[in-house]
Amino acid sequence: MNIQVIHGPNLNLLGKREPEIYGHETLDQIDEMIVDAGKTLDIDVKTFQSNNEGDIVTAIQQAKGWADGIIINAGAYTHTSMAIPDAISSVEIPTIEVHISNVHAREEFRHHSYISAVSIGQIIGLGSKGYLLALQAFAK
Ligand code: DQA
Repeated sequence: MNIQVIHGPNLNLLGKREPEIYGHETLDQIDEMIVDAGKTLDIDVKTFQSNNEGDIVTAIQQAKGWADGIIINAGAYTHTSMAIPDAISSVEIPTIEVHISNVHAREEFRHHSYISAVSIGQIIGLGSKGYLLALQAFAK
């Protein structure tokens, strides 16, 4: 099984960015943890991060033909982008939405996700462990 992990804007700053909300782990550490977990589950994981909406759309399109599933934390684009959910619908790859923080316990603008409607499920507020739970959900 092949899983494409996609991290959106500002997630490259994890570890330095509001650690009281997002924790102290860097994105490299989180990616390594996901790739290692994939090995134990016999899942080949590719990770990708971009601060640009169009590059995320392209990554989703390029996952077609390789990925059996997508795990996406679209960062703030979750709450604004229609191009990203359109791309997910277009490629018809099962997608799980992850958020490190509990977006529902935060500002109002974070309560709505355009990604949720095109996801098979969401894992929200469980920190970086959410990525591992998403991987396990695909593995079963
Ligand atoms: C986030 C939540 C978003 O509201 C925010 O814009 C992020 C990170 C999370 O993982 O908790 O960049 O997606």
